Amino acid sequence: MACDTLFPYLLLLSLLISFSASSLAGAGRAPFACDQNDATTKGLPFCQVSLPIPERVKDLIGKLTLQEKAKLLINNAAAVPRLGIKGYEWWSEALHGVSNVGPGTEFGGDFPGATSFPQVITTASSFNETLWEAIGRVVSDEARAMYNGGMAGLTFWSPNVNIFRDPRWGRGQETPGEDPVVAGKYAASYVRGLQGTDGDRLKVAASCKHFTAYDLENWNGVDRFHFNAEVSFSMELSHSETVHVSKQDMEDTFDVPFRMCVKDGNVASVMCSYNQVNGVPTCADPNILKKTIRGQWRLNGYIVSDCDSVGVYYNAQHYTSTPEEAAADAIKAGLDLDCGPFLGLHSEDAVKRGLLSEVDVNNALVNTLTVQMRLGLFDGPAQPYGNLGPKDVCSPAHQELALEAARQGLVLLKNHGSVLPLSHIRHRTVAVIGPNSDVTVTMIGNYAGKPPSLFFFLFLLNHICSLVLYNFFAVGQLGVACGYTSPLQGIGIYAKTIHQQGCEDIACGDDKLFNAAIDSSRQADATILVMGLDQSIEAEARDRTGLLLPGRQQELVSKVAMASRGPTILVLMSGGPIDVTFAKNDPRIAAILWAGYPGQAGGAAIADVLYGTTNPGGKLPMTWYPQDYITNLPMTNMAMRSSPSKRYPGRTYRFYKGPVVYPFGHGMSYTHFLNTIATAPTVVAVPLDGHRRAGNVTVSGKAIKVTHARCGRLSLGIQVDVKNVGSKDGSHTLLIFSKPPAGHWAPHKQLVAFKKVHVPAGTQQRVGINIHVCKSLSVVDRSGIRRIPMGDHNIHIGDIKHSVSLQAATLGVIKS
Ligand SMILES: *[C@@H]1O[C@H](CO)[C@@H](O)[C@H](O)[C@H]1NC(C)=O
Ligand SMILES: *[C@@H]1O[C@H](CO)[C@@H](O)[C@H](O)[C@H]1NC(C)=O
Repeated sequence: MACDTLFPYLLLLSLLISFSASSLAGAGRAPFACDQNDATTKGLPFCQVSLPIPERVKDLIGKLTLQEKAKLLINNAAAVPRLGIKGYEWWSEALHGVSNVGPGTEFGGDFPGATSFPQVITTASSFNETLWEAIGRVVSDEARAMYNGGMAGLTFWSPNVNIFRDPRWGRGQETPGEDPVVAGKYAASYVRGLQGTDGDRLKVAASCKHFTAYDLENWNGVDRFHFNAEVSFSMELSHSETVHVSKQDMEDTFDVPFRMCVKDGNVASVMCSYNQVNGVPTCADPNILKKTIRGQWRLNGYIVSDCDSVGVYYNAQHYTSTPEEAAADAIKAGLDLDCGPFLGLHSEDAVKRGLLSEVDVNNALVNTLTVQMRLGLFDGPAQPYGNLGPKDVCSPAHQELALEAARQGLVLLKNHGSVLPLSHIRHRTVAVIGPNSDVTVTMIGNYAGKPPSLFFFLFLLNHICSLVLYNFFAVGQLGVACGYTSPLQGIGIYAKTIHQQGCEDIACGDDKLFNAAIDSSRQADATILVMGLDQSIEAEARDRTGLLLPGRQQELVSKVAMASRGPTILVLMSGGPIDVTFAKNDPRIAAILWAGYPGQAGGAAIADVLYGTTNPGGKLPMTWYPQDYITNLPMTNMAMRSSPSKRYPGRTYRFYKGPVVYPFGHGMSYTHFLNTIATAPTVVAVPLDGHRRAGNVTVSGKAIKVTHARCGRLSLGIQVDVKNVGSKDGSHTLLIFSKPPAGHWAPHKQLVAFKKVHVPAGTQQRVGINIHVCKSLSVVDRSGIRRIPMGDHNIHIGDIKHSVSLQAATLGVIKS
């Protein structure tokens, strides 16, 4: 009742807030360049929207002096007042929502915050490409709105698509996980969402980072350190140690997400990394930048350094003897923009000393200026997306998507005796325990924005109303206003809660609060422990030292489970995997739910899953290793493949065969799905290109070079029937693995496709899957050459197995 009367006021309040906000926004920011009221620039060719962009860029570069050019090579590019061009800050971030981590974006005024989606590892667990793209679209709406309000740039250095190679990596949470194909599809989808699909035009420009083989922060005192450059770029780290990466691992692991980001996602930028690969800093390596990214993959965009990485390889890695050489090496290698001051300080002198030609500088500027023109920055006041303003940030639809993303990303790891979902009738009083049980900021992980506190009041009212409505009508949730919903608040919508911290913080150094927690579990119908990690354990600059729950968390969980009157449920927040073997094996711990870092609405999503208004469908995007795995495993050993003679276990499900706590792809549902293959070929002929004779193929072994096959659209089409034989509607992810014919270079299995389908209870759906033979069924030999092994490839989909024989087609077959 109270809510019925409150609601009109709530609505009015929301309207008032958005109205006053939008009226403050006024007519938008002044144009970055080509202001029509500016007589000096009127009629200049680079301002002519009707001319092709390459012509406009050429015109502009022709008008710049060398000194002006050098000052455009850095993230805070200088203004060129005589040409009516303002300064531009290139560095903004939007990993999972517009973020204020970079200096190009700030919150305040009409824009107190932005929608904060789950951390990427959680969103990846949804295995839903539609969702990934939808999040990108919302983030770019909010980004454009903030740009229009003068609070953000248009160039965002996201996503992070390095492979989550070692479970200890502090930034693994930022990535889509350990599988190169998942990471590549995530990259392409998110980038499409961010950049829009308006031809060559860009809504915002994304950047796939950090190329390449960068996935270590600070392990065992390995040569990494804070780099405090002359200017304050101290937030990032660097290590002067080179990483050794084989051509084979480069081609079939490290390169894959970046290649897909550039070729399939058409990303407008790639960022090179701090580290050296095989003795050369990535940002000074022409093989990596010019030859691979721009030459082979045809990047249509700019290459940017990680923040101050050019300065780092000069000052810290002593890669060159003078700063001018360092600047020249970067630009000649294909770097277009320096996040940091270095190129602005030393490029001009590098040209004057003859180490670099002005043409090289021009080429770099062509790449950055073209992106700025594609964004519309030189189109004067007629800005695309000019209608977006404060009302488009944290809008109800955006918040709903943040909640939806969290729901889709949660992974049910264990559900003994189907104790979940809980019932709001039988489990009316719930003990909610643990250092993560009432957290907010923890839920958004790193590289996050900040949901505005302004909206918190609205949220609270809404929350109370949801609770009332739920109990009266047993309906699902109402949307939450932009702001956080902690697990305690989320569970509070369904049940009466008794809250106990259990541990003072994540470190959980003592047992002072244990007894109170244990007592509460004795009084409740069910006990929910929300445990795990936060940024004090895993973060940028911070790798983990072990895989177990920190401090005495495990002890608390076991003691509470022992005492609990009702079922005990363990909810884990973390980016990386946790060795929870104790909980997996403890029959008193009925269920385990992994929430990753579920974003601003995480607590609501957790409650929805626990109480069954959402049927979980997430799958682990990385292997959960036991603690033993990391014993004697240096993070610095980059090899993906195992080496039994050296007792090297190998990395990720593709190469590691040892015991796991939970495997890649694990995730349960409240319903049950049955897969059957409806149709699939048993033989696929691989035609060889015209210059080859089949005879040569059989002689040179049993794997044809991909470049010798007529790949085209050659694919393996499989139809799978997915039947929901349970009693609840649900979403099912088909993970299609292939096991290539045995051979020393092949992974023992690899994901070749995945597809998510929603299947109502009692119904069946046919799903078509196309596996590209050359791209997906090939393996990489020791020299980094991609080959298609002839013979039997075993396709695994859940429990079903299907064998397909690849056969090289002879010339005769090709002709016929
Ligand atoms: C077989 O391969 C070699 C090396 O690739 C090539 O030189 C030769 O012409 C090929 N032979 C035939 C019969 O095609
Ligand atoms: C994928 O995500 C979209 C966007 O949230 C959603 O509409 C769709 O139902 C999801 N697909 C499945 C199969 O769950």
